[in-house]
Amino acid sequence: LGVCGVQFEMWDSDEPVPRVELLKKVKGCDGILCVLTEKIDAQLLEAAGPNLKVVSTMSVGFDHLSLDELKKRGIRVGYTPDVLTDCVAELTVALLLATSRRLIEATHEAKTGGWGTWRTLWLCGHELANSTVGILGLGRIGVAIAERLKPFKVKKFIYTDVAPRPELANMIEAEYVSFDELAKQSDFLAVCCALTPETHGICNWNLFSKMKKNAIFINTSRGGVVNQEDLYEALSTGLIAGAGLDVTTPEPLPTHHPLFTLKNCVILPHIASASYTTRNAMSALAANNLLAGLRGEPMPKELKL
Ligand code: GLV
Repeated sequence: LGVCGVQFEMWDSDEPVPRVELLKKVKGCDGILCVLTEKIDAQLLEAAGPNLKVVSTMSVGFDHLSLDELKKRGIRVGYTPDVLTDCVAELTVALLLATSRRLIEATHEAKTGGWGTWRTLWLCGHELANSTVGILGLGRIGVAIAERLKPFKVKKFIYTDVAPRPELANMIEAEYVSFDELAKQSDFLAVCCALTPETHGICNWNLFSKMKKNAIFINTSRGGVVNQEDLYEALSTGLIAGAGLDVTTPEPLPTHHPLFTLKNCVILPHIASASYTTRNAMSALAANNLLAGLRGEPMPKELKL
């Protein structure tokens, strides 16, 4: 196929391209447009060969790209921040409320005969009004989540990151605290950081054991930031009240995974950016990043390596 003076081959399926196939097809390519199911590592870059100038991923996350290997070869990288921020923040709020107000359990009870007479403490959850919301990794998405939660009468926003980010924090009047204070003070804790070697597994026993018993843990970033064994322990022993996860390790999470047995764990299949509008915007941005990279022009959204 050819368009905009570019010859391209498209994997025309919603299923990921099998690795062996991908390794064959990338040979001699100048550019690759991928999604987060494709590992762009040394093996793939070797298979592509020296023509490769640009990798454009249709995602804001880039943990599936070996940045060192790309940098070493002078390959430019495009990604899709900003266009998905609203959609991801919206889903995060939906997941937070579904978890804290036990919506999935509740619809299940209503449908399957568990709904008896009105009972005082039945299906009680935790409310946002007067709460402290913690954000682990304050970026565009964390700010957008806080903006949406504010009208629910949240008392205080706190965040932690590698360093304070005053320009973002000021937008939501969030206070910078240490990792330990974030754990101790948060009634709701939203993980919004990128998955990097530094953040891998940081949501582990050390975090959960310091959290409040009523705390709700929400992750819409990457499964890799969470130690799932520790999370299972924390949820099943009542150390924290609930967890809402849009991302897991692995994906898909096997249906027999212990986390699926817990009523206080709501698991979504990585759908935070899944609105028609946003996926269209991500596709267009990924294509424009690719074309700009091929032409040697500035990309609309380039990841600086
Ligand atoms: C989705 O997870 C993304 O990184 O865009």
